[in-house]
Amino acid sequence: MPFSIVCGGFWGDEGKGKILSYLAISDDPAMIARAGVGPNAGHTIEFEGKEYKLRLVPSGFINPKIRLVIGAGVLINPQVLFKELEVTKTKDRLGVDFQSGIIEPNHIEIDSTDTHLKGKIGSTGSGCGPANMDRVLRKLKLARDIPELKPYLTDVSVEIDDALNEGKQVIAEGSQAILLSLFHGSYPYVTSKDVSAAAICSDLGVGPTKVTDVIVVLKSFVTRVGTGELPGELSVDETEKRGWTEYGAVTGRLRRAAPFNYDLARKAVRLNGATQIALTKFDILYPDTAKANNIDQIKKEAKDFIDRIEDETKVKVSLIGTGPSAEDIIDLRENI
Ligand code: IMP
Ligand code: MG
Repeated sequence: MPFSIVCGGFWGDEGKGKILSYLAISDDPAMIARAGVGPNAGHTIEFEGKEYKLRLVPSGFINPKIRLVIGAGVLINPQVLFKELEVTKTKDRLGVDFQSGIIEPNHIEIDSTDTHLKGKIGSTGSGCGPANMDRVLRKLKLARDIPELKPYLTDVSVEIDDALNEGKQVIAEGSQAILLSLFHGSYPYVTSKDVSAAAICSDLGVGPTKVTDVIVVLKSFVTRVGTGELPGELSVDETEKRGWTEYGAVTGRLRRAAPFNYDLARKAVRLNGATQIALTKFDILYPDTAKANNIDQIKKEAKDFIDRIEDETKVKVSLIGTGPSAEDIIDLRENI
């Protein structure tokens, strides 16, 4: 009953969507379950020449056989969800937990105008913080209160438990990343709840003894949107020169960038209990690895980088992203 968690290791935008889309095709799991905060996330998926930027529908939708569910801990903006159900054509196979929280217009209004949230913290303005605040106050509406969501309502915890008991594979899709955790991240410049692998279990209603693997996704350089520390931060010019310029998938903001950081990688491995590392955007650092699918295609300098990550974290790099498309990847899982 393999249950793997895919979670972010830095400040988000490591390429979880890309890794999940690859796993959806290669592993053909029975189910992918979205955890994390809510539609403040933007997961980019490229498949068969098409690009999708999703905020709620799980990234593995590209495999039409997979059941897609969203956990009780995740906030839903019904408008965002309905739009994504159209784009991804997944109405017949998506389930939302009865107890997922609902973002309402007033939450978005507060999140996008409040001087503390928007001004100081640099929130995405998607309403997540204020909605989680109402949840803590126990006055937030839940998915079960919204008639339009009725066709999708389910008990995600039960669905996952049944699947695992039948020996099926389930993958948990985390969002955000550990350094944005309300408990373990760079407070106050963090998101509105914990987003560790343990929190992902809690979002879905799965006990920690059920977890087989935790795949922490690390990008070959570090980026961050919004305010807060970023060790080794580069100037906009230097970022551009290195070809590391990126824009936020939800807000379109320019992402701040810094070189790969081994201290942060160790922290990400520890806080998530990672058993594997997925390293993304390797081709940005080493352009001659673009679209490679085999480790033998990689030169010594690039291999040394992987060896050092493994030495410093004591965890194996099992997947290496070599391009934006789901199939641009080196899969080393057989060797570990
Ligand atoms: P909020 O989660 O929208 O309240 O934003 C709080 C902080 O977390 C801001 O710095 C956001 O830029 C950051 N953040 C939240 N979600 C993501 C994400 O999915 N990727 C990157 N940064 C995020
Ligand atoms: Mg993102």
